[in-house]
Amino acid sequence: MRYYRVPDETIKRLPIYLRRAIRLSEGQVKCVSSKELASLLGVTPWQIRKDLSYFGGFGTRGVGYNVENLVSHIREILRLDVVRKAALVGVGNLGSAILAFPGFRSYWLEIAAAFDIDKRKVGKKRNGLVVEDVALLGTLKERRIDMGIIAVPDDAAQNIADDLIKAGVKAILNFAPRYIEVPKRVKVITIDIALYLACLPYYVPSK
Ligand code: NAI
Repeated sequence: MRYYRVPDETIKRLPIYLRRAIRLSEGQVKCVSSKELASLLGVTPWQIRKDLSYFGGFGTRGVGYNVENLVSHIREILRLDVVRKAALVGVGNLGSAILAFPGFRSYWLEIAAAFDIDKRKVGKKRNGLVVEDVALLGTLKERRIDMGIIAVPDDAAQNIADDLIKAGVKAILNFAPRYIEVPKRVKVITIDIALYLACLPYYVPSK
């Protein structure tokens, strides 16, 4: 099912609700009110109800949310109800850290392929994956990998994005510190830790 007119900010909060709901479910909690959930997450109950209302609500007034339902509904909305595969391009410092990070699995995300241009890395095993030559990006379509992660230097990032899209990739997480131009049908999310860090001094009073 495709939902329309859902703000990106709402979509960004869904994985946060999902993570907490999974923890509650693991703790054998059966039911949670929007008030309880909000206090665990530092948001308002109104925000949670509003976000979930875009998808039909699925809470019971006066009772709250059945935790199992909450997990399965949010997984379904985010299309995380099946294991989703992503390809990583650039197995350098950042790419290697991403490959080593176990936390994607809790969202049913799998980094299923890793590519690099460096012949010294190609063919070597990293965290259970054999690094492939970037020239093989075109094989992603037949492998049903439709998400990409870019961790290459910024001057290579646009070409890599173009190649990923040619190979059928529909959504890209970009770590290169630059704007990536893509067709409207493709979603790019760029993450730049330096940008966030650069904001922090503003909040630190000077002596
Ligand atoms: P790195 O130099 O350690 O790794 C880059 C890797 O990309 C190397 O293995 C290199 O062989 C490979 N590569 C270069 N051109 C390629 C191409 N055309 N196709 C395939 N592979 C290619 O660099 P590092 O530190 O891992 O950073 C990678 C990128 O991530 C940079 O753009 C950097 O600015 C960015 N970065 C972003 C952060 C963030 O918060 N968004 C944090 C750290 C790095």
